[in-house]
Amino acid sequence: MKKRIIAGNWKMYKTSSEAKDLVHGILNGMKEMNLPADREVLVFPPVIHVKEVHEMAKGSKLSVGVQNMYFEAEGAFTGEVSPKMVKDAGAKYILIGHSERRHIFKESDELLNKKVKAAYDNDLIPMLCIGELLEEYEAGKTNEVCKKQLVEGLKDITADQAKKLTVAYEPVWAIGTGKVATPEIAESVQKYVRSVLADMFGQDIADLIPILYGGSAKPDNAAGLLSQPNVDGLLIGGACLKADSFLAIAKL
Ligand code: PGA
Repeated sequence: MKKRIIAGNWKMYKTSSEAKDLVHGILNGMKEMNLPADREVLVFPPVIHVKEVHEMAKGSKLSVGVQNMYFEAEGAFTGEVSPKMVKDAGAKYILIGHSERRHIFKESDELLNKKVKAAYDNDLIPMLCIGELLEEYEAGKTNEVCKKQLVEGLKDITADQAKKLTVAYEPVWAIGTGKVATPEIAESVQKYVRSVLADMFGQDIADLIPILYGGSAKPDNAAGLLSQPNVDGLLIGGACLKADSFLAIAKL
């Protein structure tokens, strides 16, 4: 069964007490909701809060992931955290290749591929983020950019490993800008993304991979996006920082 994943990327927001308040709000709201069996609600807090959020979420249907990690097992890598550390803190998912990592921190497809492999080696579920810049969108290069990011990011990944893959299509021009992609744009790119995954891993596996849309997803546009056959969930930034708006999308 393919899951519908509603994920919140907190980015670099929330102190410890703010994080606790938000998680309390989400957990209380989730208790009152009758979430369908195929629904996964997931948060990516800053790494410093992951253990605490994981402890709070125990026994609930809320999953936790981290926004970043290094690929090496351990060593002299000041400022980094290892896959084993994030697993140990309770992370189930790892966000890899978010556009802010690609463009602010200059992470290459080659580095991201190492992180994907490290995720599998440590039993973490990778959520590989892909997406084009505004100028690439305007030049009609969206599919080409997404294909390159998938092929290079998932180099040497086996079909068996791909059964646990999740992908998020996030057009960079839509992230944090209030300019959401129309449901038709999201569907057309995500249908193409699935076809690339089918070429790489076979149609049966591609059909099982949740492909999320991200970029200015909000309670008032989420239903339209989720109504598309190849939009299997949403990766939410701004609208996930308040329990009300996050839950309004999670329950759709
Ligand atoms: P946004 O962020 O919803 O604030 O556009 C999405 C993301 O960066 O994942």
